[in-house]
Amino acid sequence: MSLLIKNGEIITADSRYTADIWCEDETITRIDRNLSAPAGATVIDATGKFVFPGFIDPHVHIYLPFMGTFAKDTYESGSRAALVGGTTTLIEMCVPSRADEALPSFELWMSKAVGKSACDFTFHMGVTKFDDKTDAQLREIVRRGIGSFKVFLAYKGAFGVNDDELYRTLKLAKELGVIVTAHCENETLVAERCKELLAAGKTGTAQHHESRPPSVEAEGVHHLMTFAELTGAATYIVHLSCQEALDRAIAARQRGVRVGVETLIQYLTLDKTYAERPDFEGAKYVMSPPLRDARNQSVLWNGLRDGLIQTVATDHCPFDFQKQKSMGKADFTKIPNGIPSLEERVNLLYTHGVKTGKIDLHTFVNVASTQAAKLFDLFPRKGTIQPGADADLVVFDPDYRGEISVKTQHMAVDYSAFEGWKLEGRTRDVTVRGQVAVRDGKFCGTPGRGRFLQRKPSHF
Ligand code: URP
Ligand code: ZN
Ligand code: ZN
Repeated sequence: MSLLIKNGEIITADSRYTADIWCEDETITRIDRNLSAPAGATVIDATGKFVFPGFIDPHVHIYLPFMGTFAKDTYESGSRAALVGGTTTLIEMCVPSRADEALPSFELWMSKAVGKSACDFTFHMGVTKFDDKTDAQLREIVRRGIGSFKVFLAYKGAFGVNDDELYRTLKLAKELGVIVTAHCENETLVAERCKELLAAGKTGTAQHHESRPPSVEAEGVHHLMTFAELTGAATYIVHLSCQEALDRAIAARQRGVRVGVETLIQYLTLDKTYAERPDFEGAKYVMSPPLRDARNQSVLWNGLRDGLIQTVATDHCPFDFQKQKSMGKADFTKIPNGIPSLEERVNLLYTHGVKTGKIDLHTFVNVASTQAAKLFDLFPRKGTIQPGADADLVVFDPDYRGEISVKTQHMAVDYSAFEGWKLEGRTRDVTVRGQVAVRDGKFCGTPGRGRFLQRKPSHF
């Protein structure tokens, strides 16, 4: 299998130049001008296009039993949607319930992906309890190639850990060099405020963000930072949504705490008024932490520009509007949380970030690919374009003009949170380890070819 991408403008986190990229088998082997392809090689003409490293989404849910139902995508549909949107590597959250054991859960999550995914994948291992069996099982999971954990300071009774479990998880992570990703919201405050709102008859979608205001998220961040400071573990705050939470993370970083910050394409482009839409339409926009006041968007964009925020993910978590979100019609606490966006992240980040001048092309690549590869032990195999790296490449058409619609999306969900939104630029062709998986915006990949990416912890 050989592939030549000709005449594209190659953009990485720190370089920009026009050249041809020659790939043999699964790897980039040469980058130079005026390369010619031998007979039988696949050739993609990228004249007038950008060529980016394959994008990495460091926070997705594909298989997820949650809030009395299951997230809608499978690896067949999810990886197809990811690839059409330019994402060649998924990092999925493996999230056992507190009743389940870590190791069999890890095996279950693997079984949902192996032989089905068209793109490469790995997992953050959810630690949703820490009992006398957990330590040995987590060590085994790390031996099998997982270099990151996930904890929830939210979702009391479902996934949320208590403080002694959090402390033990971080101590083990520090010993093993594992980075701990964390959902930061104070679960007690959320639970109490939900009870109060429901008792007052406030049951609508707009109450979701009242139940978990910015201070609740900021407390969660500060809480995690205190534990990280004491244990020395490397941490990563997932789906950070607001100024107050970012302030706590930066204050901790200034004290020497090792912390990466992820925001989401949803927080950069949507605000809480979407969740306030009438006739239950707001349910499409219920997620946690919730969409915030619009003033936070410039804080997040500036945070990306200035390197205070490392990554843009999706927290892709698809639930159908008709049959699943509707479970919460009479009670907002029963609306399954999540806004699907796996397919749209890269194109929206380009349209709303690069085209508007909020971030430059290098920052775009850095936050949507390179930083995730570096933080999660995938660099330089993923996240850049250089000889020796996997031939995961995105040929991007900056002149494309189109619009997002549920009618054309690949995600297995019955709505788009971005219905009718205009795109200025899109992913045109995508390769996964040297094989073309998307051509002219159409999926042509191979379900099951996606590989589990073994990682070695590096955060000692
Ligand atoms: O609302 C969200 N974020 N749904 C997915 C689960 C999580 O908290 O990551
Ligand atoms: Zn979360
Ligand atoms: Zn999540």
